[in-house]
Amino acid sequence: TTTEAANNPHDDVLDIAHRGASGYAPEHTLTSYKMGDRMHGDYIEIDLQMTKDGKLIAMHDETVDRTTDGTGKVKDFTLKQIKQLDAGSWFNEKYPQYANPRYEGLKVPTLEEIFKTFTKNKKYYIETKSPDVYPGMEEELLRLVRKYHINKDTLLVQSFSKESLMKVHELDPSVKLIQLLSYKKHAVLTDQEAADMKKYAVGIGPNFNYLDQAYVQTARQAGLDVHPYTVNEITDMQRLMDWGVTGMFTNFPDKLHRLIKEN
Ligand code: G3P
Ligand code: CA
Repeated sequence: TTTEAANNPHDDVLDIAHRGASGYAPEHTLTSYKMGDRMHGDYIEIDLQMTKDGKLIAMHDETVDRTTDGTGKVKDFTLKQIKQLDAGSWFNEKYPQYANPRYEGLKVPTLEEIFKTFTKNKKYYIETKSPDVYPGMEEELLRLVRKYHINKDTLLVQSFSKESLMKVHELDPSVKLIQLLSYKKHAVLTDQEAADMKKYAVGIGPNFNYLDQAYVQTARQAGLDVHPYTVNEITDMQRLMDWGVTGMFTNFPDKLHRLIKEN
């Protein structure tokens, strides 16, 4: 209700279903994305790779090895060959506690299939992965965004590659961008760095382990959204919310949803 929302300072924290509800179902399958929706995830997070014949597919790794029954690089597979792979059985073997026979034989989805399934008003949080390996991936992404009339108010394009983000902006300045950042030790953000990123990005996605409250405050004061990844423990979610993050990536969108409602 309105009263609850007014009393809840964290009610607008975004719940980003990382690779779908990938704690419970095989990542980057339509099943995992649908589960993310049912668990009240606001955004579906999608990593992009590109096939030999130039189709964008949802997959995290540059090889199919970890998340399918095949081996080899995505760029050496045609879409037809990718479609022959089983993208679900690995999950049942790796996570017996969440195994489900209906995951066997799930297919790798194309971005086009995802847009057709969830339609234009779903909130999509799409990452250009390995843009150096896949020239033209930004053009193809934006072609599909246009073709399916994806609502750009609720679309976020993310990348670790600033170059890839700039390319997206050259092609379409109205797309909102998130700069991903990876740290290996205690993260420090200067006002200048934050201001520089604010010139092109609406927000940043840092890995959460090395952050502190000062980092989050600096980013927020520069007007940046802060969406740390990948936060799966409730104690970490709570700490980050208390520091003022505006959303987070999680494999367990139901846990974050409950926490946001409780706060
Ligand atoms: O996109 C946010 C987060 O997913 C970045 O890391 O490796 O899981 O894509 P990765
Ligand atoms: Ca990602």
